Amino acid sequence: MEKEKKTLLSGIQPSGDLHLGNYLGAIKNWKELCDQFDCYWFMADMHTITVRQEPAELRRRTLTQIATYIACGLDPEKNTIFVQSHVPAHAELGWVLDCYTMFGELSRMTQFKDKSARNADNINAGLFTYPCLMAADILLYQPDFVPVGEDQKQHVEICRDIANRFNHVYGEVFRVPEPYIPKTGARVMGLSAPENKMSKSVPEGCVFLMEKPEDIMRKFKRAVTDSDTERWVRYDPETKPGVSNLMSIYAAVTGKTYEDIEREFDGKGYGAFKPAVGEAVVELLRPIREETERLLADKAYLESVYRAGAEKASYAANKTLRKVYKKVGFLPR
Ligand code: TRP
Repeated sequence: MEKEKKTLLSGIQPSGDLHLGNYLGAIKNWKELCDQFDCYWFMADMHTITVRQEPAELRRRTLTQIATYIACGLDPEKNTIFVQSHVPAHAELGWVLDCYTMFGELSRMTQFKDKSARNADNINAGLFTYPCLMAADILLYQPDFVPVGEDQKQHVEICRDIANRFNHVYGEVFRVPEPYIPKTGARVMGLSAPENKMSKSVPEGCVFLMEKPEDIMRKFKRAVTDSDTERWVRYDPETKPGVSNLMSIYAAVTGKTYEDIEREFDGKGYGAFKPAVGEAVVELLRPIREETERLLADKAYLESVYRAGAEKASYAANKTLRKVYKKVGFLPR
């Protein structure tokens, strides 16, 4: 039977509060995907504990992340939204795939090398086998596409390798997914150091989605602009990275072109431009923040969303898991 819609799946770690870079770069474009694809979105909390977490904080961020996605337009009626740890099949298939992944190939993963360098006191086995769990996350749902950024491409590659290896031994058990390169959103740089991507680890240059308007305004007014001699608003990422970043944020928020923006601020200088970008961002985020707060006040609703999501996800996941268990020779329950 031909499926009417192709399936798309992505996991997002609740490892930090979501910010403007996450929104303009990715989340903003997700709400339209559900028209085209059968979408699964899950909070990858099992991946998050590969780095030590404050338990109450992890719980808070997981719930807030669900509320924020809904507030950003992911309709729970049209998307399957769930928490990874609520669907035991992830851990179960993860173990099986551990046994079909080689030590050597895991050793070559750049993220493992980076993360173990950064967390030298906690190079745990979970960090090492992370790609197997991620492969399980994906393969359980037989998706056609996995939207990922540049930094996660190697993980989709190894997932494809694992799936092909398994299929080669046991027949067509897994659909081998393609990475999906989403419509590129804006690449938002930090406000305090525009040479790096906006990141939660540099909070003074990072605008969080749940931040108060006055704090957002303060960050924009203090945004680093460029020390070139011309003091007007012109798009040139090479010589004017700070101003160009603000322009790309303003363009993404208002839909204006760079020429529109140059004309709008012609002769006005940075002093007028920075608060204007701040205002635009405040107005963009206001409904998202208010809706997220409203949802967080309605715990019963959020619970109903993630419970229904886990149930739907489990149904799909268990189908694949049963097949795998049978293939590898486990006695049926
Ligand atoms: N590793 C991904 C990240 O850090 C998160 C993730 C976990 C994921 N499981 C996934 C993404 C499955 C896509 C599909 O961003």
